[in-house]
This record gives sequence, structure tokens and C-alpha cells, in this order.
Amino acid sequence: MASSKYAAAVLLAAVAAVLLIMAVEVAQGSYDDTTYYNVLPITRIGDPERVACSDFLGNVKCRGKRLTCPKQCPNRAARAGLSCFADCSPKCEATCKRRKINCQGYGAVCYDPRFVGGDGVVFYFHGKANQNFCIVSDTNIHINAHFIGKRPEGRTRDYTWVQALGIMYSSHNFTVAAKKVATWDETADQLLFSYDGKLVTVATAELSTWVSPSGDLRIERLTQVNSVEVVINKIMSLKVGVVPITQKESKVHNYQISSDDCFAHLDLQFKFMDLSATVDGVLGQTYQPNYQTPVKVGVPMPIMGGDHKYTSSSLLSSDCKASKFSPSNTASSSINSEFIKMITADCTSRGGQHGIMCRR
Ligand SMILES: *[C@@H]1O[C@H](CO)[C@@H](O)[C@H](O)[C@H]1NC(C)=O
Repeated sequence: MASSKYAAAVLLAAVAAVLLIMAVEVAQGSYDDTTYYNVLPITRIGDPERVACSDFLGNVKCRGKRLTCPKQCPNRAARAGLSCFADCSPKCEATCKRRKINCQGYGAVCYDPRFVGGDGVVFYFHGKANQNFCIVSDTNIHINAHFIGKRPEGRTRDYTWVQALGIMYSSHNFTVAAKKVATWDETADQLLFSYDGKLVTVATAELSTWVSPSGDLRIERLTQVNSVEVVINKIMSLKVGVVPITQKESKVHNYQISSDDCFAHLDLQFKFMDLSATVDGVLGQTYQPNYQTPVKVGVPMPIMGGDHKYTSSSLLSSDCKASKFSPSNTASSSINSEFIKMITADCTSRGGQHGIMCRR
């Protein structure tokens, strides 16, 4: 009798140990490097994830605080579109977020490229078809965009879209591109990735991820196909989606799209974590403190000019005139509190056609 009780206790302990190990494994994502927290082990599978915050860009307000994911979104990975966002900025809270590209939010580049600057000003930058332009250039990161497009009969300029991004940081390079597509099929994945010159495959399933060998870059699918989030350790995060030009859009804007190419292109939303005050590039410059926009605000299509400053010779070269890229200089840039406020502001609603409303 006593020995069978003992055996049962041992068995129970063993089961508990296995469950605990599984739970710990579940909780150890590859997230720790790319965020400002450490993931805490969970004791039971299904419990909301918990994190312990570290310093946020030198701000200690949330340091050491423990954040627990809400019941509605217990995991940091996206499930049914909702995921837990543990925010160790001075906000210091864990909330549910829909991980979608917000084309009206700060750092968005969508449509025929329509930008929303770090200053909240909306502008268009047309560039030219089949050329590359530096859109963000700072000491520790450089981002070029490859434009595709066409010039409809009787127009004086190219209609353009962003087809690919080339990103360089420290000694690494990364590209994300939309494949050329004739007819759009919603179920087919049209994203292509490369890391350090090699193609990268990310399984087409919700939640599937790819992490670079050194752990400094992570790709995570937001939906089964055609949308991902890319996080580069403590530098930036980027949501990317591929979308086609629809017949309706073509008609409304008179793009004159033919049936052999739907001009699959990227919708993008950047979030930067470590920009310097001298950041440049079409989009980057709008994150400078005290930036004065040259764009005519209040006209139907405010244009950012100066193509010649931003032209890059290839997708992965940092030779545009506006370039600030010098990756050997890894000294951390100075971050002011105004900037922290800016990147943690919540910009959901849209104030008229030319501005963004942000809750701080
Ligand atoms: C990208 O990185 C790889 C590996 O470091 C390197 O061999 C290649 O030259 C880089 N590509 C460009 C265009 O810089």
C-alpha cells in the first residue's frame, strides 16, 4: 500500500517536471534579443506569457517590472491576428495588438508610394521606375527601396511602387521583395527574402519564424502568406505585405495595368528604435528632431522632391548623396525623451487627409 502511494507520488512528480520543462520551452522564444525584456518561464501551458523588463533605451522607469499578457492575447506571437505586445517603454504595460500594417501610421510606405513621416506629415515620393532610392540612412542602418512602375500613355512621369527593400546593418545585409505576378492569387505567397546573400525560406504557416544565425534578425509571418514582421535587434521593426494593383485601382487612377503584370508591390510600416539626430533618406529625414518639412502641406498630392539626393546605384549599396551609413561606428546614438515619446505614441486615427492624430 505504502509503496504504491510512493510510486504514484514519483509518477506525479515526474509528470509535473515534464510539464514544467515543456512550459519553459514554450516560453523561451527567440524574442529576448530583439526586445527590452526577458521572458519569464510559465508554470502551466496555456498561462499568459510574462516578461521582466530591462532598460528601455536608457530609460529605467519600467526596469525590473513584470508584465503579464492579457487573457485575450496570452501569447506574443500572433494568433487570429491578435498578439500580446509587452511594452517596456515608459508606458510599461502589456496590451493586445492587431499586428497589421497601418498605412496611416507613422513610418508607413504604401500605395504609389505614399509616406507617413516621423513628423506625421503625409507625402508622395515618385522616384523613377526600375531605380533604387535610399529611404533611410543612418550610421547603423541603411535602407534602399527598389521602385517598379510604368508610364501610362500621355503622362509626364512614371507611376511607381516599392517592389523590394535592401537593408544593411553592421556587417549584414537583408532583402525582402515581391515576386513579379501576372494574375493575383490570394493563397499564393509572393514574398522573397535573402540574408547575407542567401535565399531564406520561411514556412507558409501562421506563426512560423526564421531567425538569423547570430540571432540578430527575425522574420515572423503575420498571416499564412504575404505578410510578415521583420525585427532587427534593437534597431527597427518592419511590417511588410505584398499587394497587387487591382483592376479597380487601375481604373480609378488610370494606371493602365495590363493582364500580364499586376505590379505586385510592398506595403510597409517601419518602427525605429535607435535613430540618430542626423538620420537621412526620403523617410529617414522626417525623424530628425526639429525637422522642417519641405513638402507643401494642404495640397491634394504633397510631393517630396530631391530625387538626385536619394538615388542609389543598386539595392544594396549605400552610395546615395544623403547616405549617413558607417557601420564601423557602432557607438549608440543619443536618444532624447522627445524621441522616446514619439516612437511610443499610439497613432491610430487619421486627422484629415494630411495629418495623423496620435495619442501619447
Ligand atoms: C551581403 O552579405 C554577404 C555575406 O556577408 C556578402 O558576401 C555580400 O557581398 C553582401 N552583399 C552585398 C551586395 O553587399
